[in-house]
Amino acid sequence: MPRLVVNGKTQDIDADPNTPLLWVLREQIGLTGTKYGCGIAQCGACTVHIDGAAVRSCSLPVNEAEGKQITTIEGLAQNGVLHPVQKAWLEHDVPQCGYCQTGMIMAVAALLTEKPKPTDADIDSTITNICRCGTFQQVRAAIHAATDA
Ligand code: FES
Ligand code: FES
Repeated sequence: MPRLVVNGKTQDIDADPNTPLLWVLREQIGLTGTKYGCGIAQCGACTVHIDGAAVRSCSLPVNEAEGKQITTIEGLAQNGVLHPVQKAWLEHDVPQCGYCQTGMIMAVAALLTEKPKPTDADIDSTITNICRCGTFQQVRAAIHAATDA
């Protein structure tokens, strides 16, 4: 039985070790902010943080997340204070339908931890999440705003 630490809370999970982490987060723990898009690690809708790094949870067996710190969109704000990326997203009205945006925000938050002042080239090479509403220019503007915050 895998034991996970999700948003700082330890959870005992009843799942096959090969079950994708995404299903466990959504179906067993009830954290539905993380979305299913493609299921093959291409779109980024399912992005969470594992020990601070962006990971596409649809393609990570749950047993590989054991003993690591998992953070989902529900755990990104701290003590009721939004993460700078979340604030920039609100200020720039980034989401359209919103479906891709939790994964987008998690990917960007991980990028800014690694590179606090990313260039446009850094953004293009790292934020490969797919947005069917085409919010890419707003995403870019909000990333630069978050770095200036
Ligand atoms: S659902 Fe995981 S990358 Fe698309
Ligand atoms: S905001 Fe609709 S898919 Fe990105």
